[in-house]
Amino acid sequence: MITINVTTRDGERQQIDGVEGSALMEMLRDAGLGVDGTCGGMCSCGSCHVYIANGAGLPAPIEDEQDMLEGMAEIVEVRPSSRLSCQILLKPEFDGLEVEIAPQF
Ligand code: FES
Repeated sequence: MITINVTTRDGERQQIDGVEGSALMEMLRDAGLGVDGTCGGMCSCGSCHVYIANGAGLPAPIEDEQDMLEGMAEIVEVRPSSRLSCQILLKPEFDGLEVEIAPQF
């Protein structure tokens, strides 16, 4: 079981069950939490932007993700905890992730 704790854009708290090997973006999108995933995980839309408070154990962003986040910083708040959720493939050790949906991009 991979439980993801989500704070929506409205400040509501929800828990969703993650599926090992699936992208976090897909879990958030399919749960109707306002993540569109427009580009399907190609690091080119930014619609899957989230803040992950306890994401220190996650793999570091690849260059494409880093570039996209840097480009978004002129339009939305990008924090040190910012990630593109399409790049986070869920593993059991990610149980308990604290994910906040970032403002619409
Ligand atoms: S789904 Fe487009 S950047 Fe993540």
